[in-house]
Amino acid sequence: MRSISRRTMAKGTLGSLVVLALGDAGATEAAQTSPLFEPFKFGDIEVNNRMAMAPLTRGRAGAQRTPNALMTEYYEQRASAGLIVSEATAISPMGYGWLGSPGVYTQAHVDGWKDVTSAVHRRGGKIVLQLWHMGRVSHPDYLDGQTPIGPSAIAVADSTYTPQGKKPYVTPREMTQQEIASTVNDYAQAAIRAREAGFDGVEIHAANGYLIDQFIRDSSNRRTDGYGGSIDNRLRFLREVTEAVVKAWSPGRTGVRLSPTNPYNGMSDRAASATFTAAAKVLNDFGLAYLHVVEAPVAKARVPARIAAPMREVFKSGFILNDSYDATTGAAALTSGAADAIAYGRPFLANPDLVERFRRGGQLNAPDLKTFYTDGAKGYTDYPTLTS
Ligand SMILES: Cc1cc2nc3c(=O)[nH]c(=O)nc-3n(C[C@H](O)[C@H](O)[C@H](O)COP(=O)(O)O)c2cc1C
Repeated sequence: MRSISRRTMAKGTLGSLVVLALGDAGATEAAQTSPLFEPFKFGDIEVNNRMAMAPLTRGRAGAQRTPNALMTEYYEQRASAGLIVSEATAISPMGYGWLGSPGVYTQAHVDGWKDVTSAVHRRGGKIVLQLWHMGRVSHPDYLDGQTPIGPSAIAVADSTYTPQGKKPYVTPREMTQQEIASTVNDYAQAAIRAREAGFDGVEIHAANGYLIDQFIRDSSNRRTDGYGGSIDNRLRFLREVTEAVVKAWSPGRTGVRLSPTNPYNGMSDRAASATFTAAAKVLNDFGLAYLHVVEAPVAKARVPARIAAPMREVFKSGFILNDSYDATTGAAALTSGAADAIAYGRPFLANPDLVERFRRGGQLNAPDLKTFYTDGAKGYTDYPTLTS
């Protein structure tokens, strides 16, 4: 089974476990009155609190890539999050490339997801589906021997895990304009299926070195047509996907995730602030539900701090920040106006009742890295709550 080192090494932060103890009465009182517990409206999606569950790939969907009863239980356990962003979910067979991750391109996938969304709604939660195309970081082993596609024929100098074991990434094939158009349409179809599956909305995954991010950042895009070169051109694919998804469903049900400085999957951009502030401006024109930016808090930033601040300036609707936040830094980001909500990844992974723990100032379970991407309930649905 896949080792966790792929993501841990690349992100560089996952080794530090989040353990928070706010034992004294003052801290508990502060926790109870935190702005994290205030309701909010992301476009058409009303949420009970400002704690989002960040998207977390967990690899439990099996060979058919279909959401199942165990996944339903896992999401239901975490339904007290204001907004759950689902694990990244393949929009098409060509977009697939992670062992055990789910899809949303067959009726069986839709039916599996229906059970998940019903369970979350029964518990009063909200859930959006993260739409994923892996682009160049897929592998022929997932694609019936086909070469993965990307904006340019540039390979990642690293290895990936396939059903046949660990293998180097291959050089992707540069997408034709016809393929770009049909992939844009795949995103729209996935949004339609997400709606049918009962989701409250979709999050376009334009972060972490996957297909859309590969178009945006200049380390992976050397195209000489209208999809490469200038910032405006590199944002064209993001713009077209967003436009198609918004048309297929609704702007008030569409969010986008960006990660301006995350080096994961061999990514970089020579002018990240200019590129991503321009991206936020482009996205603002759609009147979306939210923009979700992966950016470590200043104290932990590994790269120029506060790259999200100018993005926040130009993006006028819901703004979610993520990476390494806890109850205190999350509340401070809301109070300062840096964000409208905070997404928590590993803390929600290990604490199904994270909202209640923050409310009570309770100690957090530490995430078990060894079971991030393994099979079964261990390290998935067996993290204890405060009352279990
Ligand atoms: C196990 C695991 C799986 C992840 N899967 C996804 C994913 O499917 N989509 C995504 O955009 N980010 C994914 N991430 C990144 C998280 O959403 C988040 O950005 C990261 O964990 C930092 O937030 P945290 O400090 O609150 O954990 C994943 C992270 C982890 C640890």
